[in-house]
Amino acid sequence: MLDEKLEELLQDMSIEEKVGQLVQLDGSYFEEDALITGNMAKNGEGRNFPIFLAGSTLGLSGAKDLKKIQKDQMERHPHHIPMLFMLDVIHGYRTVFPCPLGQGASFQPKLVKECAEVAAREAAVSGIHVVFSPMADLVRDARWGRVMESTGEDSYLNGIMAKAMVKGYQGKNPGDKMKVGACVKHFAGYGAPVAGREYYNVELSEYTMREYYLPAYKKAVEAGCEMVMSAFHTWNGIPCSGNRWLLEDILRKEMNFKGVLISDWGAVSEMTAHGFCENNKVAARTAIEAGLDIDMCANAYAEYLVDLIKNGEVEIKLLDHAVMRVLRLKNRLGLFENPYKDADSEGEMRVILCDEHRDKAREAVRKSMVLLKNEEVHNEKALPLKNEKIAFIGPYVKNEDMDSSWAVNGDPRDQISIQDAALERWSEGEVFFARGCTLLDNKTTGAKYFYEENDEYFETKNQSLLEEAMETAKKADTVVLCLGEHRLQSGEASSRAQIKLPKIQLNLLNNIAWTGIKIITLIFSGRPLELEEVLKYSNAVFMVWMPGTEGGHGIMDVLVGDHNPSGKLPMSIPYNGGQLPISYDQYSTGRPRMGLQKGEYTTGYLDVPNEPLFSFGYGLSYTDFEISKPYISSVYMRQNESIKVSAKVKNTGDRQGTETLQLYIQDMTASRVRPLRQLKGFCQVELKPGEEKEVLFDITEEMLSFHRADGTYGSEAGLFKVWINNSSNVGEGVIFELKEGKNGNVQRREYA
Ligand code: NOJ
Repeated sequence: MLDEKLEELLQDMSIEEKVGQLVQLDGSYFEEDALITGNMAKNGEGRNFPIFLAGSTLGLSGAKDLKKIQKDQMERHPHHIPMLFMLDVIHGYRTVFPCPLGQGASFQPKLVKECAEVAAREAAVSGIHVVFSPMADLVRDARWGRVMESTGEDSYLNGIMAKAMVKGYQGKNPGDKMKVGACVKHFAGYGAPVAGREYYNVELSEYTMREYYLPAYKKAVEAGCEMVMSAFHTWNGIPCSGNRWLLEDILRKEMNFKGVLISDWGAVSEMTAHGFCENNKVAARTAIEAGLDIDMCANAYAEYLVDLIKNGEVEIKLLDHAVMRVLRLKNRLGLFENPYKDADSEGEMRVILCDEHRDKAREAVRKSMVLLKNEEVHNEKALPLKNEKIAFIGPYVKNEDMDSSWAVNGDPRDQISIQDAALERWSEGEVFFARGCTLLDNKTTGAKYFYEENDEYFETKNQSLLEEAMETAKKADTVVLCLGEHRLQSGEASSRAQIKLPKIQLNLLNNIAWTGIKIITLIFSGRPLELEEVLKYSNAVFMVWMPGTEGGHGIMDVLVGDHNPSGKLPMSIPYNGGQLPISYDQYSTGRPRMGLQKGEYTTGYLDVPNEPLFSFGYGLSYTDFEISKPYISSVYMRQNESIKVSAKVKNTGDRQGTETLQLYIQDMTASRVRPLRQLKGFCQVELKPGEEKEVLFDITEEMLSFHRADGTYGSEAGLFKVWINNSSNVGEGVIFELKEGKNGNVQRREYA
């Protein structure tokens, strides 16, 4: 439809119809027997708002149902305006990929884009128009359960991955066949709640927000994402969903976001609960005035916006602008011409979980796994598995769901478990299986949340599981131990004060360790966990995250060495939860620690190092790589010029492998104290044994820019150090000088 026609449509709509476009109702209003002709009052809501005026819904899927709902809704709507169907498609629709943190570990934006393409195809054919992804929130505190939904602790990596996802979902145009609109979330800074406590307030300076937290959302906006979701929390005391400066000035004006802004679920009325608005009427006015278009499920717009407009308390032009944005989105999706878009019941049978999609998921599992340890046992590396008798032991061998809490349409029955995958390679009798223990028990902090069984049940059960596991282990040369978190221990509303494995699992590990058998431990988890004990007793350790539908296949491909692991940590793994929040890009300090000496007054802890146990970017391969000192094309760089930095990478081992080369830069003196290093680029090279290649990065002025002390953004003249390595533990660097910074040389200023 032409834009002029949309204008005409808008002019012809009643205030109630307009408000309807900004009302998102949850799926229960439209399910079988739902009151499609009714109104919200009948469903227990206060106002007599007609359901058929609602502009969108979330949480429903399935071509047949959605087509019916769309048809009924449009027939009743005075202007026959189609609804938008939105859904949480976070890491796949029915074919579930590794959770986003795992995808981040691949350091492969191309792969991440392809996963989003598959998710878009499955969602679109099931009738979905918009997915609530990517989550571009920067995460540095593993206590927060939603770190699983992010691609990690580095804003550069997150930006690249967020862009890849948007491109994967939307393609060139979300209206194209088998494409959907993307909604980046949660604007802004949701990943930094104080003490990692879900939904809690975020206290970040404007500088920190701009420098670290906003860039990844910005990348998603630049990639053309159709929607943005405002976050639940308060930022420096102001709820994001009512913060006009954040939504209008930063998002719409500075970032030039032209699309639709939706609240998170109920966030508009939560402004009342926060004590920021006296009641939901004020909350509705605050939200629309802040620039928020759609009220997701709070029903504050449905209840109050019509009156607020009619009484002149809210300007009609605000309403019109918001409605126009929603209509334009519907138009870009082509819904005025074809309100069902790609919904197709027969197509669902063909597309969903097809071989091609499963293959992509399997590839993503292989590339998401991060090898943390692989020591020699009897003069040979513990992994890959050789011709040996293997016992697969642990709750994740087959008893647990490997999707995350955010695989809304995932079905555990589609999953290939470790046991399934092992039995495709070996026959019964060649490999052995045991559950080992329950995933959690009643002694695990917080586990009562998941279980109803009593202490006695767990004690008896685990006693017999342990005995069975010990018998099973005795038959084998190697135990592959499959441990981890319950899938509901990470995700929304799943903060944990202690990021440990449950004692029941560590007890299993300890018992098996006593036998002296070689132990390979796989950690299934949505967050970094404390792993010191696991490392101590295991000969090899893999992070496998929440791997999804093809978990068993992908993991087995890597364990047997058909594929050489290449994943790198997207989030540092701390020694101890007490180090949180933690990230590799620590600031320079006035008292750097050189090694803890008695009586030393330096920055840090007495009982743990400052560094994490495993730092961002770390991950081993089955082969070895040697990386040369970087070579720089010039020791001087001038404004608007770039210089080149290169390094040679050699595969010194005996198998083909892929290495991720990471470019880190430090601004050595600046108007604000800078981090010791920051990721500014990465690339992957595949090398045969003995092969050597050169990797080359351009250093541009943009890479040297930051939010300076005078409030401007740009680079400053001075010395910079640059490294190329295969983790954020950098090695040897080289120094160059930037002769003039952008926006003048404001390096030494007096600041109040
Ligand atoms: C709440 C979550 O914070 C958000 O990520 C999700 O998209 C919405 N609910 C919709 O389910």
